[in-house]
Amino acid sequence: MSKPRLEGKVAIITGAASGIGEAAARLFAANGAVVVIADIQDKLGLQVAASIGGPDKCCYRRCDVTDEEQVEATVAYALATYGRLDIMYSNAGVLGLLAGTLDFSKEDFERVMAVNVRGTALAVKHAARAMLARGVRGSIVCTASVAGRQGGHAFPVYTMSKHAVVGLVRAAAADLGQHGIRVNSVSPFMVATGMSTGMHGSTADTVEEFSAALANLKGGGVLKAAHVAEAAMFLASEESAFISGHDLVVDGGASVVYPSIMPALASLSKL
Ligand SMILES: NC(=O)c1ccc[n+]([C@@H]2O[C@H](COP(=O)([O-])OP(=O)(O)OC[C@H]3O[C@@H](n4cnc5c(N)ncnc54)[C@H](O)[C@@H]3O)[C@@H](O)[C@H]2O)c1
Repeated sequence: MSKPRLEGKVAIITGAASGIGEAAARLFAANGAVVVIADIQDKLGLQVAASIGGPDKCCYRRCDVTDEEQVEATVAYALATYGRLDIMYSNAGVLGLLAGTLDFSKEDFERVMAVNVRGTALAVKHAARAMLARGVRGSIVCTASVAGRQGGHAFPVYTMSKHAVVGLVRAAAADLGQHGIRVNSVSPFMVATGMSTGMHGSTADTVEEFSAALANLKGGGVLKAAHVAEAAMFLASEESAFISGHDLVVDGGASVVYPSIMPALASLSKL
């Protein structure tokens, strides 16, 4: 039998009390990693950790990623408890308010930037410091979004914040490559989680119907948090040993095809 893909690895996953982060915590642990769930939803985080296994497999640590002391303390906790840090999956994020370029508020802008950009930058910084100090050639993965590559996928403030995450990944990859530390991101299309179902009061079913209708890839079911977790695990594992600075889009091709032009081209070819 082949060995588990993350055997012997210690991982911190931010925003892992629910959604994509929770799916990643379950998948990473099932593949041999010890996982520290770092989130602000204490009750859920503790439940998820307990359902994954005892403290030798998974634990919950309260960590508001906007607060540098808490991020630093979470990394220190992982080192003190498990002796090393191999993987940081910076996944915590918020959508912000439904507002456009003409009417977004400064408060919402600052909150979304604080969680999505500052929180990601702090997670990358403190994870990289811990890896460097111990000579660990670690892997850092961030959750960006298709909204980090194109306009129109989400509200402008969220779109700006995810573009910043993609930039942050490239900058950090450039900086940390000399130490053997890889930095990559995953960019999902719409997935039914607490974040997306909170939008417009949708249900998981309506989000999935919407996502499936827009998808370019048909017949393969609908995008789930588990698909994104698989992509994050690939980047976290040794299987991606020579990949750094990459944004792995998980959207079934939706963002690289222009669907409305395809029927027009087909009708042109019949002329
Ligand atoms: N769901 C989608 O359609 C979608 C698409 C593209 C990208 N994403 C990104 O995926 C990531 C995960 O989101 P999700 O869809 O699983 O939603 P989710 O709401 O289920 O998960 C987000 C998690 O982040 C945590 N969190 C929020 N603020 C935090 C903070 N300050 N400190 C620590 N934790 C905090 C929440 O408690 C929650 O557990 C986010 O970065 C999101 O932007 C989601």
